[in-house]
Amino acid sequence: MYSEKVMDHFENPRNVGEIPDASGVGTVGNAKCGDIMRMYLKIEDGVIVDCKFKTFGCGAAIATSSMATEMIKGKTVEEAEKLTNAAVVEALDGLPPVKIHCSLLAEEAVKAALDDYHKKQQAQQNG
Ligand code: FES
Repeated sequence: MYSEKVMDHFENPRNVGEIPDASGVGTVGNAKCGDIMRMYLKIEDGVIVDCKFKTFGCGAAIATSSMATEMIKGKTVEEAEKLTNAAVVEALDGLPPVKIHCSLLAEEAVKAALDDYHKKQQAQQNG
């Protein structure tokens, strides 16, 4: 039912944890199942130098967030903004159709963390 990559990221999730001095933090919930995901981004000079996540979610949510963190680490903010759940699912060699909604958590958490980063940047500029 699950690809080897999904099982690998589920059993050995990358970048699990928190970043205490994160540049942006995003927390999102999945309306379908009630699961929750929090994404932490550390951004320097417009580049994501570190990211970590925590989730109270299912295996597919863990695997997609793990893959998503690997895909955005080292990327610019602009590149990370273009990350879609479809790209993450593809990188995992697919997910069962009933689990696609889980992958949305990863995309939305990254976007929420980037939004938070932009808000903090603006607040700094406004003094
Ligand atoms: Fe909730 Fe997968 S069942 S995120």
